[in-house]
Amino acid sequence: MEAVYRINGKEKRFDISPGDRLLDVLKDNGYMEVKGDCYEGLCGACTVLIDNIPYASCMVPAAGVCGAKITTVKGLGDITNPHLIQQAFVKYGAVQCGYCTPGQILSAYALLLRDPDPSEEDIRMALDGNLCRCSGYAQQVAAVKMAAEMMREAENDDRA
Ligand code: FES
Ligand code: FES
Repeated sequence: MEAVYRINGKEKRFDISPGDRLLDVLKDNGYMEVKGDCYEGLCGACTVLIDNIPYASCMVPAAGVCGAKITTVKGLGDITNPHLIQQAFVKYGAVQCGYCTPGQILSAYALLLRDPDPSEEDIRMALDGNLCRCSGYAQQVAAVKMAAEMMREAENDDRA
């Protein structure tokens, strides 16, 4: 069957089978920035945003989200034009092996969309589903706090 999605702002059409997982459809079509480890919904490495809400894409039937807006970390920014959250992760040393990073950044982005000034507890809750084996989350939490501040400042500058 043909499935249509809007991925990172572009319409995409893929030939999928009814049992395909969204993670595999994305990887098969070159979205290698979406990681995958457990394939059981446990690690969060495969997180993408579906209509701005984070989901473990290994647990999402691709056929069930036809027509959705899907965002991978490259939809936020890349090495030549990093998003403020990506900049803050680098600044705070929150990227070590990097395997969890795309999912963490997307979870942080979704949090900051709904709450531009989250508490530390809110940030920890938002990152809870994105397991990191390399850190104790202190750097990531600090990075999200700083990103929130930078995003609020950027918004105020835009309004001025
Ligand atoms: S690969 Fe999807 S949650 Fe681990
Ligand atoms: S930076 Fe290595 S798993 Fe998180």
